[in-house]
Formats: sequence, structure tokens, C-alpha cells
Amino acid sequence: MERTLIADTIEKVGETVLVKGWVQTRRDHGKIVFLDVRDRWGIVQVVATDEIAGKINSEWVVEITGLVKKRPENLVNPNLATGTVEIEAKSIKVLAESETPPFPLDTEGLDIDEELRLKYRYLDLRRPRMKQNLLLRNKVVQKIRNYLLAKDFVEVETPILTKATPEGARDFLVPARLQPGNFYALPQSPQQYKQLLMVAGLERYFQIARCFRDEDPRADRAYGEFTQLDVEMSFPTQEEIRSLIENLYVEIVKEVFPDKRISKIPFPVLSYAEAIEKYGTDKPDLRADKKDKNELAFCWVIDFPLFEWKEQEKRWDAMHHPFTAPKADDIDFLYLGNPKEFGKLRADQYDFVLNGFEIGGGSIRITDPKLQSRIFEILGHSPKDIQTKFGHLLQAFKYGVPPHGGIAPGIDRFIMAALSEPTLREVIAFPTSASGRTAVMDAPSIVDKSQLDELGISIKSKRPS
Ligand code: AMO
Repeated sequence: MERTLIADTIEKVGETVLVKGWVQTRRDHGKIVFLDVRDRWGIVQVVATDEIAGKINSEWVVEITGLVKKRPENLVNPNLATGTVEIEAKSIKVLAESETPPFPLDTEGLDIDEELRLKYRYLDLRRPRMKQNLLLRNKVVQKIRNYLLAKDFVEVETPILTKATPEGARDFLVPARLQPGNFYALPQSPQQYKQLLMVAGLERYFQIARCFRDEDPRADRAYGEFTQLDVEMSFPTQEEIRSLIENLYVEIVKEVFPDKRISKIPFPVLSYAEAIEKYGTDKPDLRADKKDKNELAFCWVIDFPLFEWKEQEKRWDAMHHPFTAPKADDIDFLYLGNPKEFGKLRADQYDFVLNGFEIGGGSIRITDPKLQSRIFEILGHSPKDIQTKFGHLLQAFKYGVPPHGGIAPGIDRFIMAALSEPTLREVIAFPTSASGRTAVMDAPSIVDKSQLDELGISIKSKRPS
């Protein structure tokens, strides 16, 4: 017999069906046992008189054949989508037993120790809130793909084993066995590859891209890895990129979060100076009522400074990243002006903000190799450094580079903000814990000496076991 999904049992009154899933709860009423059986699509009540039913516990996996019956009016359960029916079990087969889970699965789960939740993440994901978050995330990504593919964007995968791309965090390094003493870096973003794809003539690129950054975690900043919608376009204006993304997010909210209300469309655009002056931050929370979980206040912040001063290192750093174009009127000053005054230069940069979170950042890029070298120089790179670290990009720009620009909205951070979840980890299937350990698999871990020898690596400091 073919399996019936539990949500569909409501349509099958009078029919014998086969359902498969997990036992949520068991209630004994003398000889009659009630089992609430759950699959991904729903929960249904099963009435059993079979002796085996009395032995079944929560989270056991079962398959049940039974007759779908309409419940009498007074026994309808209005809290259950299948509450008008129940299944009278004819046969029950246990497919897998389960130990008692280490924590309840039918609560929100936010009061449970997070390390414990992550250790047993495969159970934690059974709770309805977590399942719902993953399903919503899936819908967001599906919407993104449909929207961009319909506009002739091409999804291209870029390498994970690569060379450092500066986005302001520390790199994760991977030792190279074939060149002992050499390392790959995991990409902090696909920034340089997407620019190379513009040189290649792709014109409209996107990728649901994993980014790797070794930075101190915060509720809205992952340590380790996170996901971006990475976008790049050739021949764009800043306004075209912003409106592409703005329309996408309006559609996402309409389709995936229909209960939420966007405060203002078109999204307000503030200059960096205005945002700082009015709100004291470059990611203002423009909600009228900050407690309203259904209000989504998107805005754009533009005209960022090109550089910020790093007092500790006594040098200028890129406010966004070194590939960001200065405003056309400010270019001469980079060659002729007083370096002490570089703080007043403006960049063709835009940040995408939602309810006080920076949910995306992008810029029009530099395509003049001379200007790009000058920026690297101002950031403190020696000519030799520039060649070894970025020579490939400068070389590529010698072969007909189109003007281009892009943006990368953070997927985890958007969903976290949209759902008012307290941390990014609530919207990621297997996140890294606040202390940097991976869910379930508990990496990082020490490796065999033979593996280190093969890589030509010896560990200097004492390793915790
Ligand atoms: P940026 O570094 O601003 O830009 O990152 C873009 C967006 O990615 C999200 N994000 C993060 N989310 C979770 N955890 C983190 N550690 C984290 N870091 C960043 C944020 C942020 O706005 N290559 C450029 C984009 C471009 O210029 O096109 C970049 O990566 O939502």
C-alpha cells in the first residue's frame, strides 16, 4: 500500500491508509491507546487496541495501517489540522525505537542550554519552531533563485579552497599537502571571483554563497561560516542594484512572510552622515514601534566614507572593502590630496538595513588598475605585496573590464531579523556554537600526528585534548 502523508488523511474518511512517522505522545485509556503520530506535514490521532501500542513511547518510528474515521462533533480537536478525523489502527509496525530525548521537543526550546541543543541538533530540529524556520529559509532561497533567474542572472559556484580575500576578518587557513608549508584560505566572500566573472562577460551573476570568517561571534554575527546572496552586475548604476534588491525583498516578504508589514515602500534612503546625525548609527532601526514583531523597516544607507582610521595600526582601512570605488569627484584627491584628510572621501557604497541590522552591503567597484593599486598602497600594502596578493585582479583588469558593481545580502541575518529570532543560530540547521564548536560533530578536533607529518606541520603550543 502506498504511504499517505498525515496532512492528507483528512481527505480520506472511510478509507484504509498507511501512515509513517514518529509517535509524538501516547495516552493510555485502559485497553484503548491514543497515539499522536507525526510526519513532516502533520499530526494525526491514532486509536489502537493492539497490545503493542501500549509499549510504544515518544519519538519511536512507526508505520500504521488503519481506517480513517470522522470524529464525533464533540471530539473534534480544533488545535489540529486533522482534528476532524482519527485513524483506527489495524496494524502497527515499529520501525525504530527511541531513547527518551534529552530535552522536550514540543516547546520553543529557547530556555534549554544551547550547547545541549546543538549536541542533539537533529532532535532540536524536530521542534515545530525550528522546522518552520528551516522551511521558511528554504522558501526565501527558492524565491531568490526564481526572481534572479527570471531576470537572466546566472548562478555560478566559486572556489572554497582559495586565496585570502580581505573583508576585514581573519582567514581560515587550509594546509596544502602538495605544497608543504603553503596554505589555501577559505573565502571571506566570493568578492574577487565575482569581479573576475564580470571580466569574463557573465554580466549578471549570483550565488547562494558560503562565506568563512574568523571573527568574534555576536548574536547577529556568525563565527566560522554564514550564507550570502552574492550578486554582481556589469554596467549598473547604484540605483539599479538597489532597486533590484529592493523589489526582491518586497516580493519575499509578500510571499514568504505574508503576516509582516513593510513600513515604507520605496525603502527610505539615508546618507551615512544623516544616519549618524539623526540616529547615532549607520544601521538605524526605523520601526515606528520597536516591539512590533510584524513590522519590517527596510532602509538604505549610502555615501559611506571610503576609509576609516585604524588608530591602533595607525593606518587607513577600507570602510567596505578595498575594491569599492570612490565617488568620481573624490578620485583626484587620492593622488593629490593630504592623506590626513582621506577620512572625508566618499565611497560609492550602499548598505541594506532592516530593523537595526545590516542585512547587506555592496558597492560599485574600481576597474582602473592604477586606481586599484593606489587604494592598496594607501591601505599600507607594499608594491610587492600588491603583486602577490592582488596581481591576478590587476592583470585581469587589463583585458577589457566592464564597469561593475554588486551587493551581498546576508541570508541568515535577514531571516533572523524578519522572524525576530534572538540569534543567527536559530535559523541555521547546524550552526557553530558561540564558543566556536560545530553542532553534533563537535569540531575542531586534534588530528593524528601522521596526518600532520604529511602536511609538514608541527604544533608548537600545547594542544588541549
Ligand atoms: P559584507 O562583508 O558587508 O560585504 O557582508 C555582506 C553581508 O553579509 C552578512 N554578514 C554576516 N552574517 C552573519 N555572520 C557574519 N559573520 C557576517 N558577516 C557579514 C551581513 C552583511 O551585510 N563582498 C562584500 C559584498 C559586496 O561588496 O558585494 C561583502 O561580503 O548581512
